[in-house]
Amino acid sequence: MHILGIETSCDETGVAIYDSNTNEIISEEIFSQAPKHSLYGGVVPELASRDQVAKLLPLVSITLQESGISHNEIDGIAFTKGPGLSGSLLVGATFARCLSIGWSKPCIGVHHMEAHLLVNLLEKKPPSFPFLTLLVSGGHSLLINALDICNYIVLGQTRDDAVGEAFDKVAKLLGLSYPGGPEIEKVAKFGNPNAFALPRPMANKNHLDFSFSGLKTAVLYIVKKEKKPTNKNFVSDLAASFQEAIAETLILKSKKALLETGLNQLVIGGGVAANQYIRERLQESLDDTEIFSPNLERCTDNGAMVAVAGYHRLKHSPITEDFIEVKPRWDLSEL
Ligand code: KG4
Ligand code: ZN
Repeated sequence: MHILGIETSCDETGVAIYDSNTNEIISEEIFSQAPKHSLYGGVVPELASRDQVAKLLPLVSITLQESGISHNEIDGIAFTKGPGLSGSLLVGATFARCLSIGWSKPCIGVHHMEAHLLVNLLEKKPPSFPFLTLLVSGGHSLLINALDICNYIVLGQTRDDAVGEAFDKVAKLLGLSYPGGPEIEKVAKFGNPNAFALPRPMANKNHLDFSFSGLKTAVLYIVKKEKKPTNKNFVSDLAASFQEAIAETLILKSKKALLETGLNQLVIGGGVAANQYIRERLQESLDDTEIFSPNLERCTDNGAMVAVAGYHRLKHSPITEDFIEVKPRWDLSEL
């Protein structure tokens, strides 16, 4: 089977074609609007949807051309139905439904976070259900007991800012550009992770929820106190201390969830999972747990994750989309 995947939930336009016989992506294109939004310090929804309109058709054409197959050989069109920015989502949903009518192929609406999770099945050594999943992106921080495709129990989630959002906001406080996660990771390499005593939010609570807004506020107070907040050493020390506080919080909560569920595999995904420091810290701290992570470029939003998720959805419960519908807010446990 060949599935065309279309990701337009935010400021990336991702298109890919998945071949289920080889479990490989045969062609893939991505366009990131990040440089445009960095001028405003964050994503401007109206600009994001306009760029999705401009980029989607050319990217689908190129991806199809590069795949070497014809549209007759596409067996389904998967798109991100939610959660995300409603304008951007609508562009992908409308385009996918129109293609599906034109080509007489099923149209599959995919949950963005399920796609971040299932992209791990593309790896040479994939995890096997059930497993614990830690999804950390710009909009979500989730701990999930993944029982099977379409069968997820949300064990914990953020009560305020998502991890990626905290990275982006702290980067702004430190005078770094958007998206903040990769920028913080870069400067943190030169800093001391123990330079500042920052809180590990909700780490000692009994539940598995997260909270990151207090951590961001703690950084804000330190920045306000500093006479030269642009000093290079100060910025890298604070970035490294912040990154370490995040890493330790994720480790503590994952450990607790592994203990409670009795699971011994941890799957990570979402943009923040691209952070090498956090990956290494998880690896060294959970040494009796098998950890699975996608390729770095498949952590942040991409079309491949939607194509793979679309394939598994179609195989598992062939519900196809007859109308153009998006779900900007959509709880994973509703699946
Ligand atoms: O999954 P994603 O591409 O989009 C959403 O679904 O939100 O995640 C984007 C988020 C941004 O907040 C970005 O700063 C963060 O992931 N991110 C990182 C890194 N790369 C991207 N955070 C920390 N370290 C990174 N290397
Ligand atoms: Zn995402």
